[in-house]
Amino acid sequence: MSLHRLVYISMASGLGPTPAELRALLAQSVRHNPAAGITGMLLYAHGGYMQLLEGEGAAVEGLFARIRRDPRHSRVTTLLHGPTEARSFPQWAMAFRRLDEEGAAAAALPPPLAAFCLEGFDEARLRARPGAALELLRLYSRSNGLMAA
Ligand SMILES: Cc1cc2nc3c(=O)[nH]c(=O)nc-3n(C[C@H](O)[C@H](O)[C@H](O)COP(=O)(O)O)c2cc1C
Repeated sequence: MSLHRLVYISMASGLGPTPAELRALLAQSVRHNPAAGITGMLLYAHGGYMQLLEGEGAAVEGLFARIRRDPRHSRVTTLLHGPTEARSFPQWAMAFRRLDEEGAAAAALPPPLAAFCLEGFDEARLRARPGAALELLRLYSRSNGLMAA
């Protein structure tokens, strides 16, 4: 068995999810992921998602294939996919954080990272700064206000 990690970004459909829709999505994830041995983190900012999935290779592939087809988002773009030594989020079936409500918290971030909270997840910018996606995911997993299960 080998541990894999996948990070993607996508655009939310329509005007973006309501808080209730985000809660439903998170509940769905938390219901499914434990049986598949998946853990991870989902961020939402300004109409875009960033999600990290980690688990056994085939489980990650299977879930990602399902998520890709989900009409609640589009333009699903993989940023990072490969084997990893250890889980970054072993304690969460899926943690969630909404960054666009975090203006104040963003002020404490280094400017390149704060831009993602203020403007959403820009592919070119994320690719120009290797490690930025993981840095953001890890940073928010440590801060207060996390909705996790
Ligand atoms: C941005 C986003 C992230 C998602 N993350 C997960 C996830 O981590 N786990 C999961 O099972 N489903 C996730 N889903 C939902 C799946 O696409 C799919 O709708 C769901 O797994 C099917 O659940 P159901 O069989 O209960 O309807 C996500 C959907 C979106 C749009």
